[in-house]
Amino acid sequence: MADIIDTGREPERAIERACTVLAEGEPVAIPTETVYGLAADATNPDAISRIYEMKGRPRFNPLISHVSDMAMAEVHVRFDPISRRLAEAFWPGPLTLILPQRADSTVHALASAGLDTLGIRMPDGFSRRVIARFARPLAAPSANTSGKISPTSAAHVEADLGNKLRLILDAGPAQIGLESTIIKVDGDEIRLLRPGGLDAAEIETLLGLPVMRPETAGATIEAPGMLASHYAPGAAVRLDAVEVRAGEALVRFGGGRITGEAQATIVLDLSPTGNLREAAANLFDYMKRADASGAATIAFGPIPSDGLGEAIIDRLQRAAAPRE
Ligand code: TXA
Ligand code: MG
Repeated sequence: MADIIDTGREPERAIERACTVLAEGEPVAIPTETVYGLAADATNPDAISRIYEMKGRPRFNPLISHVSDMAMAEVHVRFDPISRRLAEAFWPGPLTLILPQRADSTVHALASAGLDTLGIRMPDGFSRRVIARFARPLAAPSANTSGKISPTSAAHVEADLGNKLRLILDAGPAQIGLESTIIKVDGDEIRLLRPGGLDAAEIETLLGLPVMRPETAGATIEAPGMLASHYAPGAAVRLDAVEVRAGEALVRFGGGRITGEAQATIVLDLSPTGNLREAAANLFDYMKRADASGAATIAFGPIPSDGLGEAIIDRLQRAAAPRE
């Protein structure tokens, strides 16, 4: 079973243990502000293989390399001026940039799935301190079995991967709760490869340029991790429900009651006050709780599509997609 260390109570022991396990080429579950990551030394091919193995993930799916500061990022990728502005404005934070990898970068090709670009991010929170001490980038996908819901707490990680992992660092619930927003700058075109924890409108405001959505940019093929069915709970998922059917779980938003709630196995509200940030932070945990209620179907009430609603709806659509 995995050892779990509380980073609030024992920060120094947490960092030391994590660095020891990472140096031995083993993955460690680390808390980032978006979701918990399954992190390994990005320069060590055996360590990266262990990530793919633990997740049961297809190898062609590239991983994000996490860095602790700009100096570490510069060693591995080349920044264009727009990407640099984004990094300066939003790092550390829920933004991943796709950038050309430097020829002398030691991040292994297994982490980038052989692409000539690297997904790179400076996370906020305790994971950044671990990376700074380890002094090398950490490759980290979300710490869940491939295709399942991303973990936003140490307990989620333990339930899914606890018997395969040696160490989980517990920093409490993830503050943002949705994976990072992925951006690729092509000339003067800013392309959104994945909506996420950073609202794309904030990027547009900063740059005064439009962010091209996947439909318009044709970018879905370029983020190979974006398989249609993803974030899947055990139960079926029904979106934009205006009524609850017998035996369904209900997850709604904004405090308004929905017809038939009395028949639901459980009723959860992502944010009774209608706050999309709060809804994002609760999303994956509530999906798991609704799943655990024993319902065959989880009905989701309507969610506004502005701000973080874009990323929330993206995840719900993947959860609702036909399973393979
Ligand atoms: O918030 C997050 O991003 C979390 C935490 C742990 O940082 N990580 C995460 O990783 O969500 P993952 O592996 O679940 O998703 C990484 C996404 C995939 O869709 C992958 O295709 C894309 O990033 N990606 C990585 N490198 C890429 C590259 N060079 N070009 C295009 N897409 C890339
Ligand atoms: Mg994931």
